[in-house]
Amino acid sequence: MIGIFDSGVGGLSVFREIRKVLPEQSYIYYSDNAHCPYGEKSREYIIDRTRAITQMLIEKGCEIIVVACNTATAAAISTLREEFPIKFIGMEPAIKPAAQATKTGVVGVLATAGTLKATKYIDTRAKWAQNVQIVEHIGQGFVELVENGSVSGPAAETTVSASLKPLLDAGADTIVLGCTHYPFLIDTIKKVASETYPSRSVTVIDPAPAVARHLVEVMAEEGIEPASKEGYQIELLASGTPDNLQRTFDTLL
Ligand code: DGL
Repeated sequence: MIGIFDSGVGGLSVFREIRKVLPEQSYIYYSDNAHCPYGEKSREYIIDRTRAITQMLIEKGCEIIVVACNTATAAAISTLREEFPIKFIGMEPAIKPAAQATKTGVVGVLATAGTLKATKYIDTRAKWAQNVQIVEHIGQGFVELVENGSVSGPAAETTVSASLKPLLDAGADTIVLGCTHYPFLIDTIKKVASETYPSRSVTVIDPAPAVARHLVEVMAEEGIEPASKEGYQIELLASGTPDNLQRTFDTLL
């Protein structure tokens, strides 16, 4: 059984890709929506939350855990790896493929405040972005749009534009989605990009498919079967109200 968690429904964008490659596994997805968003919280707070969630997922029988949240990965995955005897798969902003894909030489990164200031992100950027310019912006209000299910329409476009336009104005032609909530806004992001700079072809990179492939590799190394023996099942859990989680799951997966 695989445990997947996020501060809310964002991690479902990762779960969607994982299910494509491991359709016969059992899953527990945990939305910590009573404590969402994580983006502005302290490192200590996120470590405490993710430790409690991990404990619960292990007690329920999870053999491997996907931290389907960039902010939690940046803040807590090294601590979780030290404290628990199972494997953790984390999120990492896709700077490397973006640096290879850009034609203007400018890559835009959208992520939370917590991710952008974390050492883990700063190290990744230093490693993969030596020959390109990186411009960053917090996706201000993006998590709230996704948690509320308001991912398209004029209000979503205005919110997206406020954070995306500075990256486009700086010349970015490749946008990295550095928060697992943001892929649910991908159509709006593409629409705003093409309306802002109609002649520029903008690529938007979601790291979830690469994370799903990595999970399969690590499970094979660990000897965890790709299919559950007892028949597969999916359990959706939330620390707050479960309505949005079930609705987003039903609509998107
Ligand atoms: N989905 C999360 C991430 O990938 C965090 C959003 C939040 O709670 O601020 O960073």
